Amino acid sequence: MSGLIGIGVGPGDPDLLTVKAVKAIQNADIIMCPASKEDRPSIALSVVSSLIDKTKNQEIVKLIFPMTKDRDVLEQTWEKNAKIMAEKVLSGKNVVYLTVGDPYLYSTWIYMHKDLEEKYPDMSISVIPGIVSMFTFASKVGVSIAEGAEKVAIIPSCYDLSSVKEIAKNSETMVFLKDGRYFDQVIDVLKESGFPDNSIFAIGQDLGTENEVIRKLTLGEVNDDTLTTKYFSILVVKRV
Ligand SMILES: C[S@@+](CC[C@H](N)C(=O)[O-])C[C@H]1O[C@@H](n2cnc3c(N)ncnc32)[C@H](O)[C@@H]1O
Repeated sequence: MSGLIGIGVGPGDPDLLTVKAVKAIQNADIIMCPASKEDRPSIALSVVSSLIDKTKNQEIVKLIFPMTKDRDVLEQTWEKNAKIMAEKVLSGKNVVYLTVGDPYLYSTWIYMHKDLEEKYPDMSISVIPGIVSMFTFASKVGVSIAEGAEKVAIIPSCYDLSSVKEIAKNSETMVFLKDGRYFDQVIDVLKESGFPDNSIFAIGQDLGTENEVIRKLTLGEVNDDTLTTKYFSILVVKRV
């Protein structure tokens, strides 16, 4: 039966895909994946490339999502790419869409899934979860995301610093995602919110790749040289 599956391919290491994800990718007629430009590689595709059997001649389709914050452009892009997926499914194909980490955490999949459900309520659409980057990071660095009654906040980049401050006052763990180039902005805010200097301050960059960087410091030890400059970065700050 034709259908669409949104697949979380995990944080970068092909050994961290679920068995279900591997089976779905290998059984697909068409593998779709996101990229920011036509001539840029798809990170999600690169994670699974060793699992693709070239002799099967599966069609690979890169869907382009320009890096922009313009809401109109974003909406048009989601709609256009959802339509490309729908046309393939309606023509009888088994389509998978790959996404880094898990499809339900800050992923383009979320918007396209909503659009497709609305326009094609009878279409078979399912999701296979993936290992979320922050949990991979937690296991690499040996920091628990939450213990006992601790509260956790997940903050995307381009912070509204006043709301980050309020959230930080009421959280034991803060996880910052989406863009390491903004991490320097939150250090003072964390201190002002009562995070003591001995709080764990752990940064992961390009996890699961050959360029992986991991740093585990305390909030008091952080300086410009210990920060990261890459989009693919995670920051976990935890009171001890
Ligand atoms: C658009 S969000 C997608 C999150 C993804 N769906 C997940 O479950 O982890 C992209 C952000 O996730 C984080 N991320 C995902 N994979 C990563 C990796 N391999 N190394 C470092 N950060 C990663 C970074 O904060 C990056 O900017």
